[in-house]
Amino acid sequence: MAGFGTRCVHAGTIRDRERKGINSPIYTSTSFEFIDRDEPIYPRYLNTPNEEAVSTKIAALEETESALVLSSGMAAISSTLFTFLGKNDHIAFQKGLYGGTSNFILQELRKFGIEYTIADSQETEDLEKAIRPNTRLVFIESPSNPLLNITDIRSVAEMASAKGILTVMDNTFASPVNQQPVLLGIDIVIHSATKYLSGHSDICAGAVAANADLIRQIRSTALNFGGSLNGITLYLLERSLKTLDVRVRRINETAGRLAESLSGHNGIKQVNYPGLPGHPGYETACRQMSGFGGMLSFEVKGIDCLTYQKNLKLIRPSVSLGGVESIVSSPAHTSHRHLGKEGRKKEGIPENLIRMSVGVEDAVDLMADLDQAFA
Ligand SMILES: Cc1ncc(COP(=O)(O)O)c(C=O)c1O
Repeated sequence: MAGFGTRCVHAGTIRDRERKGINSPIYTSTSFEFIDRDEPIYPRYLNTPNEEAVSTKIAALEETESALVLSSGMAAISSTLFTFLGKNDHIAFQKGLYGGTSNFILQELRKFGIEYTIADSQETEDLEKAIRPNTRLVFIESPSNPLLNITDIRSVAEMASAKGILTVMDNTFASPVNQQPVLLGIDIVIHSATKYLSGHSDICAGAVAANADLIRQIRSTALNFGGSLNGITLYLLERSLKTLDVRVRRINETAGRLAESLSGHNGIKQVNYPGLPGHPGYETACRQMSGFGGMLSFEVKGIDCLTYQKNLKLIRPSVSLGGVESIVSSPAHTSHRHLGKEGRKKEGIPENLIRMSVGVEDAVDLMADLDQAFA
């Protein structure tokens, strides 16, 4: 198999046999001639040429047989869960999931008679305790938001597979550059492709990668929910993926340097980054990640986190993550606002926590900005 960087550039590219251009052509049609095929080509069927090009690339990066690209990360999550869960089925979730996933669980699953348990932590023993005779899926996310907790992926996969339960993992924070969950035994990998996969804060998309049989099943549900993308957006995602390896490697390096510098800063109480030896998940992260990613969080002291964010000059306070530009947010005011003060305390999320998505700028400029904002 070609190296990861080579797959980023070349896997799935549509050969332009007519004009010999080196990039995949963009197919804008929603109607394709239907002769000698079992199934029509149609965007919502997730089978257009640009859908196939980008899903082939994502499958090559996650080292799965197959993949699907959908209109958002939540479309990927909801389509996957509704494929395998019906009335009276049960799903076990780890604690500490992305807020949109938590809202989906709380607001939607019961309407369909789907039972769920959110485990007491991301530890395998707690997830095992959450399993019931009707459990069909176990869902994990690592590193998690915003504390960067680490789930032991192989141990969860082994525990669930011994019981014949499928495992689903949200790999958005790590990206396939740093972590390939299927190689650790996970059945289905999900991404918000809005983040690192697209990487420029200009595309909303999602992806699911798994073996061909699982993707066939997810596709047949997903096309009923209708979360497809157009050829232009798919092409932009394909283009972005060509630089995924270089972007994320650069981001890993910068985030590691910032985490180290921030750890020694007297305006900061605590830095959460899985690449720091003091992080509780450090050893597990070393076993399962080839890089520690671009997400970190830190608790500021002596200054209110909103004032701190306003003082930043280069780093913008905004939501989302995974772009080439560094951004910060305050979980207490954004992703975890709905929990309230007490809820956040229970989740271990300090009120003055800042979450940072590190971009590709120069580390010295980022550090200077983070430092001057205390003044
Ligand atoms: C870890 C994680 N998973 C899933 C999602 C949902 O993705 P989208 O906003 O593309 O639906 C997000 C969005 O922030 C996320 O951070």
